[in-house]
Amino acid sequence: MTFTLITGASMGIGEALARKFASQGCNLILVARSSERLLALAEELRKEMGVEVEVCVQDLSVADSSRHIYLFCHNNNFDVDTLVNCAGLSCAGDFADMPLQKLEEIIMVNVMSTARLTRYFISDMVERKYGTIINVASIGGLQGVPGLGLYSATKSFIMTLTEALYGELKGTGIKVISVCPGFINTGFFKHAGHDAANIRLPIYGADVVVKAVMRGLRKKRIRIFPTLIDNILAFSQRFVTRRLVIRLAGFFAAVKDY
Ligand SMILES: NC(=O)c1ccc[n+]([C@@H]2O[C@H](COP(=O)([O-])OP(=O)(O)OC[C@H]3O[C@@H](n4cnc5c(N)ncnc54)[C@H](OP(=O)(O)O)[C@@H]3O)[C@@H](O)[C@H]2O)c1
Repeated sequence: MTFTLITGASMGIGEALARKFASQGCNLILVARSSERLLALAEELRKEMGVEVEVCVQDLSVADSSRHIYLFCHNNNFDVDTLVNCAGLSCAGDFADMPLQKLEEIIMVNVMSTARLTRYFISDMVERKYGTIINVASIGGLQGVPGLGLYSATKSFIMTLTEALYGELKGTGIKVISVCPGFINTGFFKHAGHDAANIRLPIYGADVVVKAVMRGLRKKRIRIFPTLIDNILAFSQRFVTRRLVIRLAGFFAAVKDY
């Protein structure tokens, strides 16, 4: 039996993606730390969509978690044909003030778990000559964002890794895409200590990200920006200095006045 494995499926964008994939008849493996939320979502999707849903509770900031997830799938003969690396977190404020433990947590979840899970599951996909990897990046990954420095760097990592994989996997039957949302209305800002009321761009619902992922897969895109504003911001970078790009990014995110 084949499955779509989604990290960060307990809430926000990951949960929205889980609902969409279930509505398309995909069996799911839901990964995050909040076991009660995952179990409730799994129960609901099994009942309402008639799909198989497995739950794998893991803390992706723990070094061995990706291996445990892979072994959970392998030992149960769950073939993962779609991997969605969605779990992620940020911490608003100056890099100089960030607690080292938070720095490590962000790198472990956003960078290491994305790289490790991709590495684990990609071999099976290559062998089967079939598979899809969806990496949730951010428009913040297009430049360093003052006030969200480490976060924007982790999202750049995701975008460049996705591009390299796209090149390496061309012609193998494996699709790989990064989706790069702007500001999306989830618990993300609260978790990051980022006051969403100050943000100087529109904040959209998670549905725009889901639609973008589906559009991107259909159109075989390497990266996709969900909204018109995201596309304008990304495109306009070509015509202005990096200095201005960075200033504007800090202005829009408005963690504080830089
Ligand atoms: N919201 C935005 O404006 C925005 C914009 C661009 C990109 N993104 C990206 O979209 C993705 C999802 O974010 P969201 O907006 O849906 O935020 P969210 O509502 O805070 O959800 C984050 C998800 O990541 C999971 N997660 C966090 N730390 C984890 C850990 N140590 N181990 C396992 N799972 C962990 C959380 O699950 P548990 O807490 O249950 O573990 C949760 O399911 C992230 O990669 C984020 O960078 C968000």
